[in-house]
Amino acid sequence: MDLIERAAQKMKKAGGSLVERAAEKMAQSQPAPASAPETKAAVSAPEARENRRGRRVNINFEAMKADNYLTPDSEPTTMAEEFRLVKRSLLLNAFAKGEGAIRNGNLILVTSTQPGEGKTFCAVNLAMSIATERDVTVLLVDADTHKPEVLKTLGVEGGRGLVDVVADQNLDLSDCLLRTNIDNLVLLPAGRQHNLTTELLASERMGVIVEEIAKRYPDRVVIFDSPPALASSVASVLALHVGQILFVVEAERTREPQLKEALSLVSSCQHINLLLNKSRFSAGEKKFGTYYGYGT
Ligand SMILES: Nc1ncnc2c1ncn2[C@@H]1O[C@H](COP(=O)(O)OP(=O)(O)O)[C@@H](O)[C@H]1O
Ligand SMILES: [Mg+2]
Repeated sequence: MDLIERAAQKMKKAGGSLVERAAEKMAQSQPAPASAPETKAAVSAPEARENRRGRRVNINFEAMKADNYLTPDSEPTTMAEEFRLVKRSLLLNAFAKGEGAIRNGNLILVTSTQPGEGKTFCAVNLAMSIATERDVTVLLVDADTHKPEVLKTLGVEGGRGLVDVVADQNLDLSDCLLRTNIDNLVLLPAGRQHNLTTELLASERMGVIVEEIAKRYPDRVVIFDSPPALASSVASVLALHVGQILFVVEAERTREPQLKEALSLVSSCQHINLLLNKSRFSAGEKKFGTYYGYGT
């Protein structure tokens, strides 16, 4: 049975407590970490220098809370706990060493079949959750240039970003990064709208930039909020370079044939994790639930 069929079957069988099963699965496949994974050494001097470059922005936590997003001082809700579980497993893969090492495992693509399924919601919450880890720095990249909503969600003004770096060989990536009022969260905006955006982002140069990000920031977790896989070739281009994918499936909306098709478009990545969003299975009638399965 191939990856997609297995993933789709898992989705079909979904029932009961999704989180419980996710936790079970994780317990079976990996030992629970006693503490934060042994991932990141102290910030290196060049990285610290780079961090001082670029603009510093203030994330609007109150606005985020009003929209049900996690913030560093969030109460320990079911949703926060679910993102913690998802985060744990992604971090273990991100910095696995030896036989379990994954190429560019620290690069995580968040995608789905179509717009509105919760990619930005999950990418931002995951970034927030990871940023609460003391020793891990997160770079959150808005790669959905058609519907760039990461900065809006955070209440932050945009600026030059991914598209500009891809379009202009003379522009340094670090000059587009935004430092934030969360010390270990850095943002890369989508950048200006460009009439060649899709072609640009699907170009070879995009691959070069993503590999550059991987090389420059091997200690960071880099989260790409991507366009939907069925709507743009950008997701499949990014899938060639990232080590892990968090594939958002909207409960009671995402259809199996579309899911299969979208998964096949990103199947160049060996580590695809499905996340069931807006599920009503979750305790307390919360609108979030996870089904967390390994594609491999
Ligand atoms: N689990 C959730 N609980 C509450 N609201 C959600 C959830 N997932 C998504 N949303 C909301 O649904 C809308 C669409 O989600 P969004 O993340 O923007 O989708 P996408 O990035 O895939 O287009 C947004 O208003 C978002 O805040
Ligand atoms: Mg979005």
